[in-house]
Amino acid sequence: MASASCHPSVLVFVTTIFLAAAIVMIPTSCTAQLTSNFYEQSCPQALQIIRSVVKQAIDREKRMGASLLRLHFHDCFVNGCDGSVLLDDTADFTGEKTAFPNVNSIRGFDVVDDIKATLNRDCKGNVVSCADILAVAARDSVEILGGPSCSYEVQLGRRDAKTAVLNDANRDLPPPIFNFSQLLSNFQFHGLDLKDLILLSGGHTIGQARCTTFRTRIYNETNIDPDFAASLQKGCPSNGGDNNLAPIDSTAAHFDTVYFKALLQKKGLFHSDQELFKGDGSDSDNLVQYYANNPEDFKTDFGASLIKMGNIKPLTGSDGEIRLNCRKIN
Ligand code: HEM
Ligand SMILES: *[C@@H]1O[C@H](CO)[C@@H](O)[C@H](O)[C@H]1NC(C)=O
Ligand SMILES: *[C@@H]1O[C@H](CO)[C@@H](O)[C@H](O)[C@H]1NC(C)=O
Repeated sequence: MASASCHPSVLVFVTTIFLAAAIVMIPTSCTAQLTSNFYEQSCPQALQIIRSVVKQAIDREKRMGASLLRLHFHDCFVNGCDGSVLLDDTADFTGEKTAFPNVNSIRGFDVVDDIKATLNRDCKGNVVSCADILAVAARDSVEILGGPSCSYEVQLGRRDAKTAVLNDANRDLPPPIFNFSQLLSNFQFHGLDLKDLILLSGGHTIGQARCTTFRTRIYNETNIDPDFAASLQKGCPSNGGDNNLAPIDSTAAHFDTVYFKALLQKKGLFHSDQELFKGDGSDSDNLVQYYANNPEDFKTDFGASLIKMGNIKPLTGSDGEIRLNCRKIN
């Protein structure tokens, strides 16, 4: 401090270098290459088109909003938001669709195909990437089901991967048997933090889950409300019925804070959900408690974490391609 205050011009000079270096570094060091107006010239109606197809799909089936949100998550957590989750297997590679967390589980591909075909027709060309379709469809789904509206913030300009790797999906997607420290490390591996873990797990405020994903919890765990466990056992036998569905929270078509309130009562459906609130006064507990009681902050902060997730390792510039058909490379 003393030497700096004796040489203000040096300080200014050093500061200038620092700022200049920081400014130069921004485009490469973070993922700010994405922009909210990316399609303004090439397809100004792109966002309206995506939203209207998503809206129709949710009008047909409420759950589709949840399924589309999850597709974006499963895309981004495996080598970045690059549309890789949408690729069918080929002779050259076995993609992510048959990975353990995805097989018989992720859905919404027909809606994505619908969006893509409409865009290809109305944009007069193949300009909107499949990875961006997933990001916008996730945002719109959440908004339509009552969540935050982050219309002006959704970042665009991702390009699509030319390959997909089954084992990467098995390695990078968190399973519901993970304990708290495993969940946190998984999120940190993806550049996300504790707050993002709590907020994005709040995505479980919508959607359904198969019996096989929560069976052990409702039959064998102790950190669960007994009446809640008993009522779930009716639809999820200890043997068989693997694909029987249960809502993840009691208001599964509404983006609200019931998911967090349930955790406070030991009514989390997945082992991994309940790991976030154990009643031990941890930072994680405090965040769950906070968002249970502050619905507006949950919405705002969820939007911010979703955008952060959407910025994971996008392909930009001339990397990757704009797929013509989201299921296969050009
Ligand atoms: C924190 C780690 C996470 C784990 C362990 C996890 C696990 C699961 C599991 C096991 C299912 C049910 C799958 C099935 O029935 O086959 C599920 C469903 C779902 N997950 Fe997660 N998840 C996590 C994080 C997230 C995140 C970050 C989001 C989005 C922001 C999300 C959104 C959803 C949605 C919306 C569904 C319901 C999908 C539908 O109804 O089609 N999950 N999750
Ligand atoms: C979480 O799971 C990992 C891997 O099984 C284990 O090493 C660790 O001890 C567990 N942590 C806690 C707190 O149970
Ligand atoms: C519960 O635990 C017992 C004893 O470890 C085991 O035999 C049984 O398969 C488990 N049940 C479920 C549904 O996980």
